[in-house]
Amino acid sequence: MIIIRTPREMREWALAQRQTGKTIGCVPTMGALHEGHASLMREAVAKNDVGVASLFVNPKQFAPHEDFGKYPRMFEADCAMAEQIGITAVYAPDVETMYPDGYQTYVTVEEVSQGLCGAARPHHCRGVTTVVTKLFNAMVPHRAYFGQKDAQQCAVIKRMARDLDMGIEIVEMPIVREADGLAMSSRNAYLSPEERQRALCLSRSLFRARDIMELGERNARKIIHAVREGMADVDIDYVELADADSLKPVEHVQGTIVLAAAAFLGKTRLIDNIKFEAK
Ligand code: PAJ
Repeated sequence: MIIIRTPREMREWALAQRQTGKTIGCVPTMGALHEGHASLMREAVAKNDVGVASLFVNPKQFAPHEDFGKYPRMFEADCAMAEQIGITAVYAPDVETMYPDGYQTYVTVEEVSQGLCGAARPHHCRGVTTVVTKLFNAMVPHRAYFGQKDAQQCAVIKRMARDLDMGIEIVEMPIVREADGLAMSSRNAYLSPEERQRALCLSRSLFRARDIMELGERNARKIIHAVREGMADVDIDYVELADADSLKPVEHVQGTIVLAAAAFLGKTRLIDNIKFEAK
């Protein structure tokens, strides 16, 4: 496995692969890799001739008061995991290379960015779409793999790839959970044992809501109320029920919807969601 540090070298390598007829599957990450990331990397390796993973903690998607400085960084362990899975190249640029002095270009997806996390974290989506565009320009992939864990991120990137004619297939992969249901996240490492226990109410409330919908409940207000009730022990940021593609809030469940929740446990902000298709 090779490690590439600059966009120019990354792009040259990727274009050389493409010239020999190889397909490239890429997995953008911020490192601190866990089984959720591993599932994406395995799929990229299985469905493409070469798999490329990026490790870059992107300052542009963190607000000044957020955890950019203390976000877990474990480069050696991440590379070992990627190599073991069969990733051919890791792309790990540094911040100065990605955003040199004078940097001023951003990519924004307007409507899809505004719901869910967009309200509480206004610059977050813009940071994500900007860095993912830069990563795509360097890795020149045929397919890119993202987790449903970040449902809004997936929706925004699908919209961006379509709107900007990127010619990249965006593949959404299911959420990988711990045995007790907690969605895996690099941020789970921040939780104290007591917070880790309380965090379970996110997945449990969402699963209960899915049961209610399976029994026929279609009223979004009632479903959201049930989720909120189950999350009484945490500081709720939002609970929303939205159309899975547009992320516009809906009052009545129809087609495919996403039911998403975000909450604080101490200083740690966790998100989780489920998708549900109304028959
Ligand atoms: P990061 O949080 O490292 O996540 C990288 C990818 O792994 C994302 O597509 C995310 O949805 C996926 N992922 C995380 N936890 C998962 C889980 N439990 N199950 C399945 N997939 C999971 O998301 C980012 O980084 C950044 O915003 C990035 C896209 C790299 C841009 O900086």
